[in-house]
Amino acid sequence: MIISLTGFMGCGKSSVGKELAGLLSFRFIDLDRYVEHKAGKNIPDIFREDGEERFRALEAEAVRDVIIMSQITGEDLVLALGGGTLSISSVRGFILGNTSCIYLKAELEDCLKWIGERNSRPMLNRSGKEIRELFEERTKLYENAPFCIDVTENGYKETAESIIGKLRLNR
Ligand code: S3P
Repeated sequence: MIISLTGFMGCGKSSVGKELAGLLSFRFIDLDRYVEHKAGKNIPDIFREDGEERFRALEAEAVRDVIIMSQITGEDLVLALGGGTLSISSVRGFILGNTSCIYLKAELEDCLKWIGERNSRPMLNRSGKEIRELFEERTKLYENAPFCIDVTENGYKETAESIIGKLRLNR
């Protein structure tokens, strides 16, 4: 089984994913880290040197690599997607068709608070109004996920437990 986690930057995909994988004894992969390893540089450098389009191409390739590898090996997986992965139309259907996709729903203000001041995310390098527009655009995409968990009041562990309940999984 493959569980993928989607949601806006800062909503806790990686932290919840690690917790969930630990509880289920699944492998955990953070797609952003996979892309960085594959590209041999960090995400801000990919955006700066190669542009967003190149980043999305690497991200799309990474999604396919990771999902297909898990299917071939039969290994259960929790995959934390990037906040923009579902915006790539060429892999959106592939993710929704091949994983149990969970939307971690949070308010924009909370996401920004959780990210904090020292943020290096290239997509947040824009005005507050543009960030709000991006958030609203993205929310429509996240709502394609068949499962949604509101993370506002919950710690990572509680969210992971809720996912297990929602998917009716046994530990
Ligand atoms: C992005 C989100 C980031 C990362 C990249 C682009 C986006 O992931 O993939 O900076 O377009 O929303 P996180 O959601 O893990 O921060």
